[in-house]
Amino acid sequence: MTPDQWLERLSRIEKEFFSVPGGEDPGRLEQKYLGRKGELALLLRELSSFSIEDKKRLGQTGNALKNKLQENLDSRKTSRGAAASEARPALDLALSGYPYPRGSVHPVTFTANKIIDSLGKLGFSLEDGPLAEMDYYNFEALNFPPHHPARDMQDTFYLNLKDEKNMDYLLRTHTSPVQIRTMKSRKPPVRAISFGKTFRSEAVDASHSFVFHQMEGFYADKNVSMADLKWTLETFIKDLFGSGAKIRFSPSYFPFVEPGAQVEVSCVFCGRNGAAGAGQKPGGEEGKCPVCKGSGWLEMLGAGMIHSEVFKACGYDPEKVSGFAFGAGIERFAMLLFGIRDMRMLYENDLRILKQL
Ligand code: PHE
Repeated sequence: MTPDQWLERLSRIEKEFFSVPGGEDPGRLEQKYLGRKGELALLLRELSSFSIEDKKRLGQTGNALKNKLQENLDSRKTSRGAAASEARPALDLALSGYPYPRGSVHPVTFTANKIIDSLGKLGFSLEDGPLAEMDYYNFEALNFPPHHPARDMQDTFYLNLKDEKNMDYLLRTHTSPVQIRTMKSRKPPVRAISFGKTFRSEAVDASHSFVFHQMEGFYADKNVSMADLKWTLETFIKDLFGSGAKIRFSPSYFPFVEPGAQVEVSCVFCGRNGAAGAGQKPGGEEGKCPVCKGSGWLEMLGAGMIHSEVFKACGYDPEKVSGFAFGAGIERFAMLLFGIRDMRMLYENDLRILKQL
């Protein structure tokens, strides 16, 4: 090989190297040109057959190209690394985290917990029952005989399913069936509460829904009287709404209690004077409290002394055992505790509203 041929080969290598596209693996290129058996390395080794002068001259040019290739390979390697780290950002432990919004308990759950706590302090244990209930527990054992008109008080969702007495299963219309289930499984004295979803075939409006929540409490023992009922409810209501709250009873009818009562609580908004207070928007009638409509009282609970027929159905002797029961809608308590006027607000799941409660 003549020095000119050698130089020609050198410039061919240079041309070829610099025409390789940027995406090529730099490690592979390094091996191909500069590695032990690389094209440029082999060519430089050929210098040994030339004269000293030619060796010097050609060697300088050859080494200059070797350095040029090496530099180019180095920059190919760094730009490759940068692209890789762009795709996978480095972990920066000093960065603050993403803010994590805190959840809160739903107002209905909050209210139920408050009621359960409050009655728990008076010795009531918490019991549970099924939502799809048998006619027997929801009605018959509670002294609503089949076809009795009292059943019309509660518009019922019947299920297309029969129980062992060939009666329909239904969605429980109140929490009172838990009373029956509890008394059937325990001997007196029994003091228990239950709470949960209840269902009635009603149109949705500001104070009604086809699904809502109730709580129920009852106490069966020797010598339980209406005075015990009154004391229990008064203590419970004062615990919930403050020591200024008052209750009053008026006669009412439920098949499973005798006597039966409707229990009203003094309006927590106007303090029982019936007038729209400071900061309160007057309702329909000018100057009247919009919540109690000026009466000063709010219907909150049904209550009464457990009917002898109910005791008989549960295997208790009504000559020896007496007791009281009370029940109420949780939503109504929640609306008062949180100052909500429309029950639908509790179920629309609008976080802007739920977050304020
Ligand atoms: N279960 C009744 C209802 O849903 C409420 C109630 C319970 C009344 C206990 C009296 C005693 O209407």
